[in-house]
Amino acid sequence: MKTLSDLDLTNSRALVRVDFNVPQNDEGMVLDDSRMRAALPTLRHLLEKNVACVLMSHLGRPGGKRVAQLSLAPVAEKLSELLPDHRIRHCEEVVGSRAEEMARALAGGEILLLENLRFHPGEKANDDQFAGALAGLGDVYVNDAFAACHREHASVHATATRFHPDRRAVGRLVEREIEALDKIVDNPQQPLVAIFGGAKVADKLEVVSAFIDRADRILIGGAMAYTFLRAQDRSTGSSKVEEDHLDEAREILDKAGDKLLLPIDHLMTRDGEVRTGDEITGDWMGMDIGPDTASRYAEAIGSAATVVWNGPMGKIEEEKYFSGTQRIAQAMAESRAITVVGGGETGQAVHKLGIEDKLTHLSTGGGAFLDYLAQGSLPALQVLKGD
Ligand code: 3PG
Repeated sequence: MKTLSDLDLTNSRALVRVDFNVPQNDEGMVLDDSRMRAALPTLRHLLEKNVACVLMSHLGRPGGKRVAQLSLAPVAEKLSELLPDHRIRHCEEVVGSRAEEMARALAGGEILLLENLRFHPGEKANDDQFAGALAGLGDVYVNDAFAACHREHASVHATATRFHPDRRAVGRLVEREIEALDKIVDNPQQPLVAIFGGAKVADKLEVVSAFIDRADRILIGGAMAYTFLRAQDRSTGSSKVEEDHLDEAREILDKAGDKLLLPIDHLMTRDGEVRTGDEITGDWMGMDIGPDTASRYAEAIGSAATVVWNGPMGKIEEEKYFSGTQRIAQAMAESRAITVVGGGETGQAVHKLGIEDKLTHLSTGGGAFLDYLAQGSLPALQVLKGD
């Protein structure tokens, strides 16, 4: 797979796929620009070489039609703040005559951000004609949207195939992600500890399975733990259990044996009351791992050479259920191991605690992070490898 340094950029206009799918408030203000900042090394490289850049991104899930609140116009404004020395324009079209005109008019060192790719039905459909229209806007193609590489959508898939292999590459962010995630996937330094949390067990079954052979310890927290506990016939009170996935959870527990640890105590709630206990019974609902579990998990992290983590340990939207996640994050920050963290909510917890610099790598990916860990590659990266 080619990287940015392999591309001949002389007199080029670059078509760059970024992931500016950022959280916004109701007025469209960008609340967290970390994904945008993560794309800056690629953009700076291109701009320093006086390349004109046509940027494409999705924002939210507008379903193939224009949704005013999901316009990328406020994101273009934010980008102007991040790159104050460069002219940044926003095109209100995704593809079409206006987009072509604005792309042609771009001077070297200028940026054009196209409108939200997902306003067009061709993006999700991986439509060839739509991909052709996008490809016509640049003469080299760069994919720096790691967080979208698990999708077989036109801007990361069919569009890439329109470019000669010498004229398409991954950007710096994707390069960094692959380098860090390969430390987990390919011959990781042992002992390897994998921590999975979050609400939905269904989203994590594949990745947990993938770590049964790879990891020395698999630590489970978050609401998904209750499905595993129920699969062991433990009482879970009125906690969230995904009944449809109990069989798969049982299969994982059988295969993983002692390697897989489940919470041994919990923070639980009932009618506004919160308490800690070993067993969740009756109307009590589990909300976070308990202090003994947190200590046990922190100890496992402390003795690991490599640690990978995705998913909070409790319902972190509520401050009173943040302590389990905080304890794990602190253990990661204090560890001398290779520490790789990914996922939207996990990233938010890391930012809240300000420990990003203490980690080896904080991924920009959510679903893409999990799929890469499970499969060792992603569809959009496979396309770039092809000839
Ligand atoms: C993400 O936020 O994980 C990526 O931007 C992908 O978004 P999606 O799940 O809507 O495809």
